Amino acid sequence: MDLGSGGWTGGRGAGSLSGMTLEDHAGDVVRKSRLMMEVSAGEAAAAGGITLEALSAFESTGEAPAGLNWDGLAARVDLSGEKLRRIAGGWLPEPVDPARWRELRVITTEGNGMTVNAFLVWDPQTRDAALFDTGFDAEPIVRCIDGERLNLRQIFITHTHGDHVAALEPLRVRYAGAGLHTNAKAAPAQHRNQPGACIEVGSLRITHRETVGHAEDGVTYLIRGFGGGAPEVAVVGDAMFAGSIGGAPGKGPSTKQAIREQILSLPSATLVCPGHGPLTTVGEQARVNPFFV
Ligand SMILES: [Fe+2]
Repeated sequence: MDLGSGGWTGGRGAGSLSGMTLEDHAGDVVRKSRLMMEVSAGEAAAAGGITLEALSAFESTGEAPAGLNWDGLAARVDLSGEKLRRIAGGWLPEPVDPARWRELRVITTEGNGMTVNAFLVWDPQTRDAALFDTGFDAEPIVRCIDGERLNLRQIFITHTHGDHVAALEPLRVRYAGAGLHTNAKAAPAQHRNQPGACIEVGSLRITHRETVGHAEDGVTYLIRGFGGGAPEVAVVGDAMFAGSIGGAPGKGPSTKQAIREQILSLPSATLVCPGHGPLTTVGEQARVNPFFV
């Protein structure tokens, strides 16, 4: 679905989000939640009053079968029926203009048949910059850093799934002086996020919260200190998407608890920057995300 040019682009070169669709359709949401709650397809189909074939088609296409008992299915897999219906009805987040944040760029790259978001932020005075995840391709990141004459000081990794760190190596070589931050247990101690740490990048202040579930090393970074009264920013990786969350088979309750406590507890104006799909806000997700009843 084309979102048009209504505010998805950073407007200054990098990070066109034009044409970005939701990461998950309603069928994806049902399948993810079913696997997270360890409900069999047969049980879910029965709760929804539909055949196994109809459930399977719904989960793969997002097209709801005739006669679906939405509330029955949603209750069985621990979703909000009302919110699930809204996703199925074509809900899209309110467009966000990243230019409100001085400065924030969304850099979306493609690989292996999917797209992934990286985020570059900087202090417009000092030009000190921080990168969040790398996506598949270093080139648009380098182009933005060069074009804006930035000093890349820090690289933060939300989790080490391949799509988020695919371009890390060339960036580490090119920006050898930049710090690296991750919750990966296998990382050398100097790169691991320290509890309570606050990293300053120019006027920006970056802290983190553990959002384990989709990934064992999942972490959400909070960025504060943007000028002009722009709200804080939460770079959530795959912990949460606009209208969905990152899959975590068998780990439904703990995953959702972490998101509730660490992300949905943030001020409602907080900008949520997910690893896939469009930007959203904490308040919007509290209202529409079907994983949270
Ligand atoms: Fe992931």
